[in-house]
Amino acid sequence: MTSQTTEQQGQPESRLFNPPASFVANATVSGMEAYNKLCAEAEQDFEGFWARLARENVDWKVPFTKTLNEDNAPFYKWFEDGKLNVSYNCLDRNLANGNADKTAIIFEADDGAVTKVTYKELHEKVCKFANGLKSRGIKKGDRVIIYMSMSVEGVAAMQACARIGATHSVVFGGFSAKSLQERIIDAGAVAVITGDEQQRGGKFLPLKAIVDDALALGGCDSIKDVIVYKRTGNPIAFKEGRDIWLHDLVDHQSAECEPEWVEAEHPLFILYTSGSTGTPKGVQHSTGGYLLWANLTMKWTFDIKPSDVFWCTADIGWVTGHTYIAYGPTSVGATQIVFEGIPTFPHAGRFWETIAKHKVSIFYTAPTAIRSLIKASDADPKVHPKSFDVSSLRLLGSVGEPINPEAWMWYYKNVGAEKCPIVDTFWQTETGGHMITPLPGVTPMTPGSCTLPLPGIMTAIVDEAGHDVPNGQGGILVVKRPWPSMIRTIWNNPDRFKTSYFPEEFGGKYYLAGDGAIRHKDTAYFTITGRIDDVLNVSGHRMGTMEIESALVANPLVAEAAVVGKPDETTGESICAFVVLKQARPTGDDAKKLALELRNWVAKEIGPIAKPKEIRFGDNLPKTRSGKIMRRLLRVLAKGEAITQDVSTLENPAILEQLKEAS
Ligand code: WTA
Repeated sequence: MTSQTTEQQGQPESRLFNPPASFVANATVSGMEAYNKLCAEAEQDFEGFWARLARENVDWKVPFTKTLNEDNAPFYKWFEDGKLNVSYNCLDRNLANGNADKTAIIFEADDGAVTKVTYKELHEKVCKFANGLKSRGIKKGDRVIIYMSMSVEGVAAMQACARIGATHSVVFGGFSAKSLQERIIDAGAVAVITGDEQQRGGKFLPLKAIVDDALALGGCDSIKDVIVYKRTGNPIAFKEGRDIWLHDLVDHQSAECEPEWVEAEHPLFILYTSGSTGTPKGVQHSTGGYLLWANLTMKWTFDIKPSDVFWCTADIGWVTGHTYIAYGPTSVGATQIVFEGIPTFPHAGRFWETIAKHKVSIFYTAPTAIRSLIKASDADPKVHPKSFDVSSLRLLGSVGEPINPEAWMWYYKNVGAEKCPIVDTFWQTETGGHMITPLPGVTPMTPGSCTLPLPGIMTAIVDEAGHDVPNGQGGILVVKRPWPSMIRTIWNNPDRFKTSYFPEEFGGKYYLAGDGAIRHKDTAYFTITGRIDDVLNVSGHRMGTMEIESALVANPLVAEAAVVGKPDETTGESICAFVVLKQARPTGDDAKKLALELRNWVAKEIGPIAKPKEIRFGDNLPKTRSGKIMRRLLRVLAKGEAITQDVSTLENPAILEQLKEAS
């Protein structure tokens, strides 16, 4: 049961769990008064508040004099006349402040092998990498695609781009050749950095071969270089003149590389994410504002201390891996785990075993992982967290989707031994970093609630007309004021940026998150009730229903398709597709065979994460007389519930009966 259904049943979750007094006493933001003071500072002098934080937490080559420029809203500019370099802030300043020999990354490979890299070594790696990129003519403003698995080199690739002012776009290693090609073309990238293969769950999976396929699909003429990190050493195809091994590119380079000092608004990265319409959007992030928030949320939300061992289990292909692996932890000089594997290999106790092995103190993961590990440890006590020594933990985090109170309680009791606060962090690719979250030394926690916005983040819940709704009443989540790490634009599509995020209905002034939310009557805590658009959240991965539908109808057998989300105990939501074929509706084994074929087709078109869990075939889809597909009815059918809604506008009610049945 999700927190949403608990709310719907009229029993809002209202248990409160206080952070332990010892945690509060030592916390960076300690006690509600300290939090309120920061919020008040932001209310009273919004720009002064952000300017102070940007001066205190970021090293500027050229200090900024202007904090916020709203002239061309919603294209906000932050710290625009300041100059800085992200890689300098993450690496060089750690060498200067005594962290040179501190471990920056503990790399835990899929097979359990461990490699440690100090800040000095990481700095050297990144400088050599940056010089290598420069030697190929890659320069400030160029776009570079990174298609790599979890590795020290993946982080170094991102930092190296940042060092020379190239804008990176990391594409998750699970995306297909076609998805990769689309992103290469949209970004107009000049190079791809990849690996020979990736190793996950004991299997070797291709990377370079997929890059070759993507480039062979055409339209990628902008790509001049393919740089290949040797991970598994298995043979791969090499194209002379275009492809080069990473070690051949960097080994002879100088270990010094003067950072490219860029304007605060210079695009640090583009990250593609799904929206409700069209192709994935290239979310463009800045340098200065983004870095400030990556750094500050490490201190505020994660209460990071010099002695911590931090572990964020995300992949660098998602925003969580950008902010809370590549940039946040390094910018504060933390020691962190970079994990190549999967939570269930070689057994479902891998997370807990790894925490024990490296004495992890802060652990940040997704509800979907927690739910699947609950199941696994119910079945086999040997993989239960209690079978491992996880006593090094002092703080837990959750991200990516709503965490249901049952999973929260399990995490709190079995992983955190009721002594670790849980930060349930609500944020998005577009927000750059945390937005609404408990602060571990401040906020009494309610399972399933992300509680209160961070200081300076002006979130609210409004109705369709943009008016604030009272606590206890659900509505649309908005942010009323800009913030430094916000999305700057959609790459190549400023109009879509405006209409998607700053719609006219709200005067073009409020940032529309795309989520519904409700505030608790007594505590005013926020609970996210899920997306209000056609975006699905499957295992914490964002997916547009339209994208999957387009992939399905691209199959020559398919006439029409409609995709909806269905609540799922483990993955949060699962994908259910209703398909009309050009041929007669298949039944029995034929239907099973075709469903499998279409699922594999979607995996090939987008990536395995987009595979529909269920496909139902019909002679038609439920439509209004004007031909509009009635998705709300499909959602009800997918859940297996009876239709109680008004179907009077439906042209073909008989179709509902047919679509009830899973094929
Ligand atoms: C959802 C991931 C509830 C939400 C950082 C949002 C959450 C989308 C939470 C963004 C949370 C993320 N509680 N829902 N703590 N965190 N979401 O862009 O629907 O991959 O809009 O960013 O995930 O997903 P994205």
